[in-house]
Amino acid sequence: MRDRPRLAPGHLAQTTVRNTIQGEPARALDHDTSQAPDHGGDIDSIRRAFPDAPVPWIDLSTGINPWPYPIGNLPPDAWSRLPSRAAEDAVREAAATYYGAPSAEQVVLAPGSQALIQWLPRLRARSRVAVLSPTYGEHAWSWSSAGHDVLCPITLHDVPDDVAVLVVTRPNNPDGVVAPSDWIAEWAHRLARRGGWLVIDEAFADGDDAPSVIPAIPVESMIVLRSFGKFFGLAGCRLGVALVVSATVRKLLRSALGPWCVSGPTLAIADRAFRDREWIAHTRERLARGTARLDMLAARRGYALIGGTPLFRLYEHADAQAEYAGLCAAGIAVRRFKAQPTWLRFGLPPDAAAEARLARILGRSAAA
Ligand SMILES: Cc1ncc(COP(=O)(O)O)c(C=O)c1O
Repeated sequence: MRDRPRLAPGHLAQTTVRNTIQGEPARALDHDTSQAPDHGGDIDSIRRAFPDAPVPWIDLSTGINPWPYPIGNLPPDAWSRLPSRAAEDAVREAAATYYGAPSAEQVVLAPGSQALIQWLPRLRARSRVAVLSPTYGEHAWSWSSAGHDVLCPITLHDVPDDVAVLVVTRPNNPDGVVAPSDWIAEWAHRLARRGGWLVIDEAFADGDDAPSVIPAIPVESMIVLRSFGKFFGLAGCRLGVALVVSATVRKLLRSALGPWCVSGPTLAIADRAFRDREWIAHTRERLARGTARLDMLAARRGYALIGGTPLFRLYEHADAQAEYAGLCAAGIAVRRFKAQPTWLRFGLPPDAAAEARLARILGRSAAA
């Protein structure tokens, strides 16, 4: 993971931020949080919008690894019994080692990092919250839905000094920007002094072997979120991990999530996957090769690479909306963004046939 500068502010459309519980607009900066965020992966709606597209569809609209961890055989009692304390402890231990967290005690397991994103705002009194944007829309939505006053600054310098909570996705979805570690450390200390939280969403940080930011900044304010589903390609398992320095916040989160919040089969799979160093190293190489090939196809078509991670790429094209329609008409779904109409985000094609189909479509429409 390398530190990269953020995009210039002029890149983004500016709309209103709304606190949905209080009903009062907060400061207008970037996102429209008055509407539930839309997501990639909604292939059914895309299919309905393009009924004549050839099948099977190639879904490149998410950043989920298309080569999932092989789940193998699961012990029958993973299905038939309630998940045991020992199984949970083993996964917390494996997760701490994999993420480079100082101890398993800091690890909180959840049914997806989305559950953590939704719970955290409910564990604090009304606060001033900054969500570095544009980013995964569920952050601003969850905080504003829980009654907090949410700002969506678009550069590091726009984050007001007095916020009590700062949320940073690192690397960011969709542009892959990695907020500089010294800036993160400074904010972590500043927020710790006032009982605030620094929420770092590392859902897309597994693409290289850099550890989580948490061991470098063991400060009370730090809450790091990780997603098992993205890199391990098992989004349907619903496993998320919070690495939390504060014992109080850990306790609040655990009691909010309740017992058995992660299923037995998911624990059994994660226990193996987190420890499978060979698969992890091989997958990192495979993803890096996949994104390099994707960048080449996109560059031939005239797409400018804005950024990304080994799990997705964000490109800019003046006619992105027409490109999107052309791809969908050919049965290839990618992610577009309401507020950034010149952007398209691509996940990786799952196999050689899908990649050849994408290459053909991009090549053919380029000539058209
Ligand atoms: C940045 C980011 N964080 C968290 C999530 C939630 O992922 P999950 O609940 O599958 O762990 C997503 C999903 O797309 C995401 O893009």
